[in-house]
Amino acid sequence: MALKNDLSITFVLLGIVALAIPRNVMSQNCNCAPNLCCSQFGFCGTGVQYCGTGCKAGPCTSSGGGGSGGGSVVNIVTTEFFNGIKNQAGGGCAGKSFYTRDGFLNAVNSFPEFGSGSADNSKREIAAFFAHVTHETGHLCFVEEINKSNKYCDQGKTQYPCAPGKFYYGRGPLQITWNYNYGAAGKAIGFNGLNSPETVAKDPAISFKTALWFWMTNVHSVVNQGFGATIQKVNGALECNGKQPQTVQTRIGYYTDYCKKFGVSPGQNLSC
Ligand SMILES: *[C@@H]1O[C@H](CO)[C@@H](O)[C@H](O)[C@H]1NC(C)=O
Repeated sequence: MALKNDLSITFVLLGIVALAIPRNVMSQNCNCAPNLCCSQFGFCGTGVQYCGTGCKAGPCTSSGGGGSGGGSVVNIVTTEFFNGIKNQAGGGCAGKSFYTRDGFLNAVNSFPEFGSGSADNSKREIAAFFAHVTHETGHLCFVEEINKSNKYCDQGKTQYPCAPGKFYYGRGPLQITWNYNYGAAGKAIGFNGLNSPETVAKDPAISFKTALWFWMTNVHSVVNQGFGATIQKVNGALECNGKQPQTVQTRIGYYTDYCKKFGVSPGQNLSC
């Protein structure tokens, strides 16, 4: 079980076309064709006005961290990279169909500071995020925690009262746990985290947004201190300071592998 503000370790493992004419215009809900971007104003089209700054969905060229040229999330998290993780999960895994690169990129549009900064910092943050995701979900296999017997209800957190019969066990890319995390994430993202925590295991967009909400709230600010600091934030109480050295090494292994794939040095202070 995790301590406050930590995620529980629930892992039980077992080219821009400059067309300025809006096409297929559908404002607000952005139900664009797959090859079109949804602009910041909710219109479908291609080119920088649609795919650039503020682009909400589709093949955006500047989702999160787009300001730094070459460091944008959409360019770093290629289909090859994303599926390279997922392909290591077994055929029967629920996450195989649930977790998609598009779902991830759509969620990133709600968190423009994710992966922002210099190209190198952006790559390190993305590598760190996916290292934890890989570990928590077993290569994007698990959508829900296997052991569903724990409620993860902290009644001391009166701001986020547990709903009757609801369980706040691990769900989604970072296996978010606890009533207070579900409650706060729901408030920030716009779903009822306390009354329907299962949404995190049913709606792919909300699922990735929940993971990114946790990341931006608890982890983003320490990325520049080294990967070890991110382990501390994700599950430090259970793993750091010699408690689970092998688990720590597993996380570090994923991180250094992803840094290598992105062509960036992993930096210092990898362990915790
Ligand atoms: C699930 O968690 C509970 C409480 O921590 C534990 O007692 C039980 O043995 C676990 N079940 C399995 C199948 O691991």
